[in-house]
Amino acid sequence: MSKKVAVVTGSNKGLGFAIVKALCSNWNGTVYLTSRDQRRGQSACEELKNLGLSPVFHQLDVTDESSIKKFRDYIEENHQQIDILVNNAGILFLKDAKEPKEFQAEQTVSVNFFALANFTEAMLPLIKNGGTVLNISSSSGHLSRIPSEALRQKFISEELSLQQLKELMNSYVESVKEGREIEDGWGDSPYVISKVGVNAYTFMLSRKLAEKGITVNCMHPGYVISDMTRGVGSVTPEQGAQLALKLVLDPPGTGLYVWHDGTVVPWDGPDPRGFIDKKM
Ligand SMILES: NC(=O)c1ccc[n+]([C@@H]2O[C@H](COP(=O)([O-])OP(=O)(O)OC[C@H]3O[C@@H](n4cnc5c(N)ncnc54)[C@H](OP(=O)(O)O)[C@@H]3O)[C@@H](O)[C@H]2O)c1
Repeated sequence: MSKKVAVVTGSNKGLGFAIVKALCSNWNGTVYLTSRDQRRGQSACEELKNLGLSPVFHQLDVTDESSIKKFRDYIEENHQQIDILVNNAGILFLKDAKEPKEFQAEQTVSVNFFALANFTEAMLPLIKNGGTVLNISSSSGHLSRIPSEALRQKFISEELSLQQLKELMNSYVESVKEGREIEDGWGDSPYVISKVGVNAYTFMLSRKLAEKGITVNCMHPGYVISDMTRGVGSVTPEQGAQLALKLVLDPPGTGLYVWHDGTVVPWDGPDPRGFIDKKM
């Protein structure tokens, strides 16, 4: 029987790196540590090899179509199928970011939502029946973070297609370009919209892949100490990675939004931050 295969995006540092480390330590299979930057990825891989672990490096920029294609073709040629896909790569502009808000909106939605969906769609034919996809979301992806009830209804519709979801996300970016995002009911955070998109995509995909026994879940890892937060937070990447490990090796179901303490949070329920996580 060929060896099992796991792929983690954006895993040269932070939570992704810790997920690769946890998989290499607790799972019998080939684990791909991927990074958009060859040098950063190889050096992260070396760090784990020095600990006696055996990740395999491959370049992967999830915003770059040709990089996705090369990676997909490489996996198909060398393994044919994959068992585990963890979509972890992500960006966040902190509140003091100087970049124009249109740029922040475009970039955040492009990396966190479009790239995740495009990469996953490219890999779908290679995901083994009974395999698992885990999308690293955030508490920011809770539907209650979008002020407009009309917009929330669009996101939760089970009739929503991927094409329509993409159009919805593009309409957010257009709204920001026109300076209308608040009056249009989107709120003021590109990160929130990008992660709401990730969650909507997760539930859509979980319904589509259920008959193949492929589980598709999303998780909030907690307030993780990483470069994204400039080293501030309440959990280490290793602690955040424990939930990811559990969700890929022993998923409690499919179409779930699981928070760092293991709570399955109803996506369209009341904002749970008050009692679960006051930080992010
Ligand atoms: N930190 C938190 O408190 C927190 C809370 C909730 C959710 N999350 C989510 O957890 C995930 C990991 O975050 P983190 O805290 O570990 O952040 P991080 O340390 O900044 O790591 C982000 C990773 O994503 C990679 N990345 C960015 N753009 C990419 C692209 N186009 N292609 C491939 N990789 C790309 C980065 O690569 P480079 O090194 O090349 O930039 C890096 O490896 C993100 O999805 C984030 O939204 C984090």
